[in-house]
Amino acid sequence: MSQKQSIAVLCSGGDGPGMNAALRSVVRSAFKVGVDVYGVYKGYEGLLERSIVPLDLASVGNIIQRGGTFIYTSRSPRFMEPVHRAKAAAYLKELGVMGLVVIGGNGSFNGANLLNKEHGIAVACIPGTIDNDIQGTEFTIGFDTATNTAVEAIDKIRDTATSHERTFLVEVMGRSAGGIAITVAITTGAEAVIFPDRSVDLAKVATAVTRGVARGKKSSIIIVAEGEKEGLGHDYQKVLKEKYQLDTRLCILGHIQRGGNPSARDRFLGSIMGNMAVKALLDGQTAVATVVRQGQFIIAPLSECLNKRNDFDNGLLELLNTLAL
Ligand code: F6P
Repeated sequence: MSQKQSIAVLCSGGDGPGMNAALRSVVRSAFKVGVDVYGVYKGYEGLLERSIVPLDLASVGNIIQRGGTFIYTSRSPRFMEPVHRAKAAAYLKELGVMGLVVIGGNGSFNGANLLNKEHGIAVACIPGTIDNDIQGTEFTIGFDTATNTAVEAIDKIRDTATSHERTFLVEVMGRSAGGIAITVAITTGAEAVIFPDRSVDLAKVATAVTRGVARGKKSSIIIVAEGEKEGLGHDYQKVLKEKYQLDTRLCILGHIQRGGNPSARDRFLGSIMGNMAVKALLDGQTAVATVVRQGQFIIAPLSECLNKRNDFDNGLLELLNTLAL
């Protein structure tokens, strides 16, 4: 009698709201066609520690609305070493799984790609990161919720800024991609946005604020993209004060953006992509990613999704400057 088929699933890298929806979809889609699922705890670290749990229908009940990932996640520097990837691959082969679903960002996709290239493990990757910076997909799970969380927080900051007639710098996550920064800048009516990875013109930022104040604005918000180093907002605050006599308060939103109940959009992405990833593995695909292109969900070769994307439309900056007048 042939052995029952099984797959494994893990979340890796920074968590993002909607990962639980994707896990639920992976488990239930597999279950529907009689395939067992192992959840790997703490991402690639769990493969190295042989830390897994069989997931059944009930284990993914009541999680679609929860932020985070119920099987935990981690960043695993040692997984970047071939010797550890070999150990992980050997474990997956021992388990007899037909493939691995990886939910994560760019680094996680690269780890999956190496597992496939070096050891022939079939992998199906689901983009899950608040940064929305994976090449080859227009959206990643978590981005929508993270931007909404930031917008909610900034609306609150606007209230106190207005009461005190103040200017705030608000630093948001998103590494170098800047997608969160430009989106929240436009949708909170910010006066300016600073991208450390592009040319930073603080004179222009100061002018935007003073011009607004001169025409009667009671508060100003300057969004700071975190870039590759968290906390740069402190440096900009100092320069704005010393060079342009602009007094500001600084708020670094930080990890609040990674938590919270996923938006409908992120639950939807997770539900669709989890199902697609399972189908891809059962179809015999060996190195793929679930992506959104021109609004359509498709399965793409993983090789098209290995780089970072940090190329948001320059027209959005122009739009911000127009609307912030
Ligand atoms: O990649 C997602 C992200 O939240 C980035 O926006 C942020 O720079 C980083 O992770 C923070 O990572 P950690 O939680 O490991 O400090």
